[in-house]
Order: sequence, then structure tokens, then C-alpha cells
Amino acid sequence: MEKRIAVIKGDGIGPEIVDEAMLTLEKIGEKYGHRFIFTEVLMGGIAIDETGVPLPDETIKVCKNSDSVLLGAVGGPKWDNMKGNLRPEAGLLKIRSELGLFANLRPAKLFSALANSCPLKNAEKNAPDLLIVRELIGGAYFGKRETFVKDNIKTAYDTMSYSDYEIERIVKVAFDMARKRRGKVCSVDKANVLDSSRLWREIAHKISAESPDIEYSDMFVDNCAMQLVHNPAQFDVIVTENLFGDILSDEASMISGSLGMLPSASLSGTSLGLYEPVHGSAPDIAGTGKANPLATILSAAMMLRYSFDMQKEADSIEKAVEETLGKGFRTADIMSDGMTELSCKEMGEKVRENIK
Ligand code: IPM
Ligand code: MG
Repeated sequence: MEKRIAVIKGDGIGPEIVDEAMLTLEKIGEKYGHRFIFTEVLMGGIAIDETGVPLPDETIKVCKNSDSVLLGAVGGPKWDNMKGNLRPEAGLLKIRSELGLFANLRPAKLFSALANSCPLKNAEKNAPDLLIVRELIGGAYFGKRETFVKDNIKTAYDTMSYSDYEIERIVKVAFDMARKRRGKVCSVDKANVLDSSRLWREIAHKISAESPDIEYSDMFVDNCAMQLVHNPAQFDVIVTENLFGDILSDEASMISGSLGMLPSASLSGTSLGLYEPVHGSAPDIAGTGKANPLATILSAAMMLRYSFDMQKEADSIEKAVEETLGKGFRTADIMSDGMTELSCKEMGEKVRENIK
């Protein structure tokens, strides 16, 4: 097969980790007879520096005309004082919305080789393996907002708003995902306080009533934050709105021992998706070789699985990552006694060697 992939390397460690993911895709291409055609485009701080805006129109056009998008990370202290809509992060939010990527899948599981990087006690015994399905283009991140001064008082507000169809489509994705996993969905909201959560719960219950094959539960977000630490193995699929999902997915990432291990897929209703690590651009370690490329490599595996329907190719990358970890190779963030520390590039090479 031939697939066109738009590549956004971004800022900080973005270019280093994306290079490793691209080389890994090329290795898969050689082995399985596919051709991946990469087109690099700008987004984030580098786009601000070169074009004046975080998301140039050209980038949107190339992404829309591609089969899929691979992204590193955006942002850094250099652009932290820019106005809200000119920050690198605004580019990320806009590309998600331009491509209609409403469903963000963030798996978090414990790789057995990394059990001692996981801060949770007895995690290995319970082996948590969960998927957060985060709504990605609604809620507070996209609602009406304003900062104003009246009578000498400065006020700012953001609105969290959801419509029935937005909730319905994301909850359905969660149910579909659960069917391919262990058949459980937990919908997370704050229905004891928020109207948008009450509507969320109403719609989720309707879908649950139509889906007797799925074991369904509701949970308040504050309780969920606690349960993720207390007993993460109870969860299979968690579905939640944008802001809650942002926070819970960072929390859940610790299950895998490091934010550097967590991939993500952002999907629309079509096969076009955007694949990026959950972690940020880590400007403090950019260029030092300390970055962990595994989350980006695993994101490339998700691209093969969800956008290109290349299941065995995706398995092959995921197995290679497990094998590399199993042989004791680590990047700095997951390093422990007796293991071999590798640079970002060396880790990418090891994974490729283990693609059989
Ligand atoms: C994430 C990030 C982004 C988000 C930021 C960088 C805008 O935290 O992907 O989780 O909030 O969605
Ligand atoms: Mg986040």
C-alpha cells in the first residue's frame, strides 16, 4: 500500500522523536511492502518564528490532503508570553478542530519490564491496562471565553458547553473500543454540579441502554482521579469530556512508568487521524539525546492500526518495543539499576532491530 503522511515535527524534542518514528515506519514499509510518503509541514513555535502564526493554512491543506498526520510536540518557554491565540498550543487545538478529530484515544498500560518505574504499589500484580477516550474538540477548550475589566475588577471566564450529538459520537467510540477490549465502559463526569455533565450522563445512559453487551458505569471525575491511583486495574475504557480527559490522561500515564511511554490517536469519523505522544515538547532536554522516542513510535503503531488498518504491522512495532524493554534497554526517563541507558536515536535503532 502507499500512504501519504503529513509530518509535524514541532518544537523542543519534537524533531528527534519524530525522526525515530519515521525511520520505524520506513522499516515497516520495507518489511511489509508499503510505501510511506512523508510531507513535512510547520506548526507550533517554529511556525510562529517562520510564518508569524502557529498553524499556517498550508499546513491545514497538506494535512487534509494526507492519509494521516504524525505529530511530535509543540510549545516552549520562548513562546510562553505570546497572546492566547498566537501560542503554539493554539495551533494544536486548531488542527484538531480543522480535521474534526473529536475522539482522542489514550491507552495507558504497564509494560511488565517497567514495573519498577511505576510509582503505584503492587501495580504489576494487577497489571493496569486502560484506555482513556477523551472528547477533543468541545468543552471548555473551545467554548466562548473572555477577559475583561469592569468597575476596576478584572474578570475572565471560559464556557464548557456540550451538545447531544457531540456526546453521543464520542460515547459510541468508547463503546466500540470496549467491544474490542474487555467490554467495560466507565463514563466520567461531574453531574453532581455541572449541567454539561448532566446532559453527558443522560446521553451516555441512552447509549448504554442500547448496548447490553457492555458493562457500563458512571463515576464523578474527582472520584475517578482517586480511583486511578487506588485501583487502576478496575478500568477498561474511560470516556470523558475534553478538560477532564486532559487531566486524567496525564495522571493515568504514570501507570506506564513515564509520560514518555504514552502514545495517542486522535480520530475523526473518517480514516484520517492525527497521532502524537501524550507528552509535551520538553525543551529542557531538547538536543541532549535524553528524549524517549517510544511514545511517538507507539503512536506510529496506532496510525498503522487505526488509519491504515495494518494490524500485523502495528503489532510488529508494539512487540518490538516490548522486546527492547525486556532486554533491559532504557532511555533516561525510565532508567533503573542494572539496565542499559540509550539515547533517543539508539533507542529508535534498537526498536528497529527488534522488528522481525
Ligand atoms: C494534551 C496537551 C494539550 C491539550 C495542550 C498542549 C494544548 O496537554 O494534548 O494533552 O490540552 O490538549
Ligand atoms: Mg495534556
